Amino acid sequence: MKDLNIGMVGGGFMGRTHSNAFSQVNHFFDVPYRPVLKTICGRNAERAKAFAAQWGYQSVETDWRNLVDSRDVDVIDIASPNDTHAEIAIAAAKAGKIVLCEKPLGRNPAESEAMVAAVDAAGVANMVWYNYRRVPAVTLARQLIDEGRLGRIFHYRTKFLQDWTISSDLPQGGTALWRLDASVAGSGVTGDLLAHNIDTALWLNGHINEVSAMTETFIKERKHELTGKVEPVTIDDASAFLARFRNGSLATFEATRYARGHKALYTFEINGENASIAWDLHDLHRLEYFDHRDEGRLRGWKSIHITDGDHPYMKQWWVPGLQIGYEHTFIHQAADFLEGLGDGRSVSPTFRDALLTDYVTDAVLQSAKNRQWVTVKGQ
Ligand SMILES: NC(=O)c1ccc[n+]([C@@H]2O[C@H](COP(=O)([O-])OP(=O)(O)OC[C@H]3O[C@@H](n4cnc5c(N)ncnc54)[C@H](O)[C@@H]3O)[C@@H](O)[C@H]2O)c1
Repeated sequence: MKDLNIGMVGGGFMGRTHSNAFSQVNHFFDVPYRPVLKTICGRNAERAKAFAAQWGYQSVETDWRNLVDSRDVDVIDIASPNDTHAEIAIAAAKAGKIVLCEKPLGRNPAESEAMVAAVDAAGVANMVWYNYRRVPAVTLARQLIDEGRLGRIFHYRTKFLQDWTISSDLPQGGTALWRLDASVAGSGVTGDLLAHNIDTALWLNGHINEVSAMTETFIKERKHELTGKVEPVTIDDASAFLARFRNGSLATFEATRYARGHKALYTFEINGENASIAWDLHDLHRLEYFDHRDEGRLRGWKSIHITDGDHPYMKQWWVPGLQIGYEHTFIHQAADFLEGLGDGRSVSPTFRDALLTDYVTDAVLQSAKNRQWVTVKGQ
């Protein structure tokens, strides 16, 4: 097993999930590389040192450029806010590093296209952390679709609901609240939440041809944490769109941070000619399945507990009946990536795959602005 030195940019929420994944992956998966937590890069030296001590990083940097230049680092893992992704990824690719990046890839398609061009030109391995593909129940949904069990697909219905920005006293900008500042985030819930729904949908149901969207900013002004001034809010607080997939199915997508009572209710339901599938992040270890071909008297929705050895990823974990959670999705993604790296195979979602999601989010924002159907680029 070869060592693979990780240089992590950002020690926030995702810095923790990725560090945990790299620490755990060799305990559970037989992969050809051993990730070594080499260097954590954060802008605040004291906080970065504390992060290094807690997670076992060997050194600390406060400027990502030093990380990119370091001979000791093989992988640049970008877990910092969206406005940093393009610059760091492009520099890392030019330096010949493996580049992993959080979602969304860029703040807009122009940034994302430049990032794809950079990893292609450098020929470096790359991947984007759309982790929900690696929830075992979601991976099983993909297997059932690939096996043709659903038949022709008619409908795809998906939501991502939260409620944490309802208070008008919540400021915009700064740690975690950078999500409310479009200059940092790129967009609001469209790029932050719907990007997940879109990535999963493209993976499960194929290309999206066209969209018709509406967005709303419910709170128009908020104090900016960094300037101290009350400034206009430029993100979308809520976003909903209709879509037509290339396979002829119709879809509805909705995301908001104003659905009182919902914290991270990511759901999807797919209705096919023979069968339907439904999944809910709040109950992520279950897949709901209805098969019309079952014997009539016993036909009904099954709630499958995804904990058995023949369910995706599950034989690596505990014993049947014992469920796993959110953090494991990142461990699965790290395992798949390391296995692919060993075989010289790119592992999806690559930067190029994630660019397709950005084309959809861009079409959604355009459609909401122009109040017209928009054809999705690059599909
Ligand atoms: N895959 C997912 O489900 C998921 C979930 C949450 C966030 N994300 C994505 O992960 C990224 C980070 O989000 P988060 O929730 O961890 O944010 P966060 O605010 O919790 O943490 C961001 C960290 O990056 C650091 N940082 C900012 N600029 C930096 C720079 N120039 N150099 C080094 N460090 C810098 C901050 O100090 C902070 O520690 C975003 O792109 C976000 O969209 C993905």
